[in-house]
Amino acid sequence: MKTEVEKITNLLTEEDRKKIEEAGRILKDGGLVAFPTETVYGLGADALNPEASKKIYAAKGRPSDNPLIVHISNMGALEKITSDIPEKARKLAKHFWPGPLTMIFPKSEQVPLETTGGLNTVAVRMPNHPIALALIDAGGGYIAAPSANTSGKPSPTKAEHVALDMDGRIPMILDGGAVGIGIESTIVDFSTTIPMILRPGYITPEMIREIIGEVRMDPGLVLDDPTVHPKAPGMKYKHYAPKADLILVDGVQEKVVEKINDLVCEAEKSGKKTGVIGTDETCGLYQAGVVKSIGSREDEDAIARHLYGILREFDDLNVDMIYSESFSTPRIGQAIMNRMLKAAGHQVIEV
Ligand code: TXA
Ligand code: MG
Repeated sequence: MKTEVEKITNLLTEEDRKKIEEAGRILKDGGLVAFPTETVYGLGADALNPEASKKIYAAKGRPSDNPLIVHISNMGALEKITSDIPEKARKLAKHFWPGPLTMIFPKSEQVPLETTGGLNTVAVRMPNHPIALALIDAGGGYIAAPSANTSGKPSPTKAEHVALDMDGRIPMILDGGAVGIGIESTIVDFSTTIPMILRPGYITPEMIREIIGEVRMDPGLVLDDPTVHPKAPGMKYKHYAPKADLILVDGVQEKVVEKINDLVCEAEKSGKKTGVIGTDETCGLYQAGVVKSIGSREDEDAIARHLYGILREFDDLNVDMIYSESFSTPRIGQAIMNRMLKAAGHQVIEV
């Protein structure tokens, strides 16, 4: 299959509107279209068409028990695909939609089990991106979309990343440039008395608490206990993994830099090609290895935005080892570290 990459620069132009219409037609005919959202690129299919959803699993190599998020563009659509909308969920929707928040509801009959990985619940999100919203409307209103990477790879934050993973597997990629946030949406589940965060993201527990009161973190995410599984099926898989062995070093900056310098020196001595993930503040202090800055430590949004891209850049360079500073920054540090710890298989050196 030939994959067309269509650049969308201005939705007000006739040219771009035609491209969206064409993409919408592909979705309505049961095909796949990759598209930008404010978090990461998604791989879309008509969520109400079981055969279309199945194509997503095939294109990504995704386990069939890992459910998809249904993307909508208005609140009316939420009523159709869910059978119960808790008041707290309505409040969160009012504050954070369109935006990087996914909520889980009991599903209605309309949603096929192929889309929900066999579950009776459905994850729903209204993305805050003009191209995504236009595509949802053009494609029938309900677009199932996981991140548009091959299963197990870092999520794509640019159309080029999607093309590397999906070329020849899908008919169309809409290129809307680099995404704004760079890590996936926060997922909130309401099936427990106290709502639970199944995946941390740009919308923090504090922001949610301000609107609806108490919210908990899924114990499966935070406990270092292999018998307690995360509730979101996708969070149990090895994810976001670069090809190289990634090791995080955590502690005060000076010691971290010193430790990484030692580790790189040792690794290179034994013939390993080595990468370092530092910050604008520290990059000049590293003495060897391929050194990349993830951004300024003062700008945690930039750290989130660059994370997956940097992991992919190191993949392209074929390094054997990556040593990285850790980023438990004040606001979205929890979301950033959740991804980094998974990418590192929880290998952390404390200094
Ligand atoms: O930011 C995002 O959410 C991006 C963009 C494209 O919208 N999408 C995304 O989808 O990250 P995906 O498929 O890569 O991750 C969805 C996560 C998985 O961990 C999945 O297991 C979980 O959501 N999930 C989906 N439906 C669920 C359900 N009914 N119950 C529990 N977890 C669910
Ligand atoms: Mg994903």
